[in-house]
Amino acid sequence: MYLYGASGHAKVIIGILKSNGQIIQGIFDDNLSIISLLNYPVTGLYDPSIVKDDQIIISIGSNELRQNVSKKILSDFGTLIHKSALVSDFSTINPGSVIMQNAVVQPNVIVGKHVIINTSAVVEHDCVINDFVHISPNATICGNVFVGEGTHIGAGAVVIQGVKIGKWSIIGAGSVIIQNVPDNVVIVGNPGRIVKTVH
Ligand SMILES: CC(C)(COP(=O)(O)OP(=O)(O)OC[C@H]1O[C@@H](n2cnc3c(N)ncnc32)[C@H](O)[C@@H]1OP(=O)(O)O)[C@@H](O)C(=O)NCCC(=O)NCCS
Repeated sequence: MYLYGASGHAKVIIGILKSNGQIIQGIFDDNLSIISLLNYPVTGLYDPSIVKDDQIIISIGSNELRQNVSKKILSDFGTLIHKSALVSDFSTINPGSVIMQNAVVQPNVIVGKHVIINTSAVVEHDCVINDFVHISPNATICGNVFVGEGTHIGAGAVVIQGVKIGKWSIIGAGSVIIQNVPDNVVIVGNPGRIVKTVH
């Protein structure tokens, strides 16, 4: 597996690849001053002729940057699931997505492309998690929740069942979301209240 992005998030992905027994074939980054990450060489600019028929994961935590980078990648995207994660056979995980240590994805969940389900996050049955979403560590998404493209659910947040969350919004760490959330807002607290708009 190749990685694009020599970031902190990439360090966690390297850990997952190692523990799954997968090989880190190379790391690309636009910042040419970064030459190594966790003792792995950073090979410079993305070059599809190096990746050839192998796969790549965009190892960048920012949802917006992940989306931007995805538009210029010509290689096939891989999917990465840590062996400690519990992912139902009745769920779908689309290419480019990463499911981290101890995360749980219950039946009939659709996880879009380039999604991060971070450490110990729980996504309950029948949820739809759209492209470029990040569900942070220890967040709990109850059943039948819809999360729109690019939304970031903060660490330890709880979203109760049946809620619909819009696109490119940010749910603060530890928030409790009990009502639908529109697109492009920052919402924090228990119960969640909108504090600003984004974009
Ligand atoms: C929600 C968040 C994005 C807001 O950041 P911001 O845009 O810089 O906003 P501010 O820090 O200016 O906060 C705006 C208001 O919301 C409050 N607030 C911010 N985050 C909050 C949170 N998680 N819970 C409760 N209130 C919060 C602030 O106290 C402030 O309130 P005030 O206007 O009454 O003073 C950020 O605080 C947060 O929680 N990010 C999630 C981080 C995370 O989970 N990372 C996981 C990485 S793996």
